[in-house]
Amino acid sequence: MSKQALVAAMNDQLSAEYQAVIQYLQYSAIVTGPHRPELVAFFRAEIPDEQGHAQYLADKISALGGIPTTVAKPVPPGSDPRELLQNVLDAETEAVAAYTRLIDLADAVGEIGIRIQMENFLQDESNHPDETQKILHGNWGE
Ligand SMILES: [Fe+2]
Ligand SMILES: [Fe+2]
Repeated sequence: MSKQALVAAMNDQLSAEYQAVIQYLQYSAIVTGPHRPELVAFFRAEIPDEQGHAQYLADKISALGGIPTTVAKPVPPGSDPRELLQNVLDAETEAVAAYTRLIDLADAVGEIGIRIQMENFLQDESNHPDETQKILHGNWGE
């Protein structure tokens, strides 16, 4: 295991964090239906967290001698509110898996500060799918 492998994995997650920012921003703009006000607030509330994750990853990639990517992963399209929530749930579940891997990678090269921050981000991300699932699985009154 090398630091380059850690940098590559952090860059991959940086792309996913850019995706998350764009996804929440776009979904908050396009969501329709009687639950729009709550969903707009829910989507927009996630953006500062995701932006903070992206900022930290970019700073550390650069500090480790890498070039932080500027490419976002593609945002899955959708229109129905439940489809948007399901896409968010999938993305957040992937984020939990990615930070779980990054904890091990940072540990393997002795980057303990990064490992601890990956643990903090894992904790942030693990709350996102919980909340999304609770909204998704409630009674939509239809
Ligand atoms: Fe994130
Ligand atoms: Fe997230």
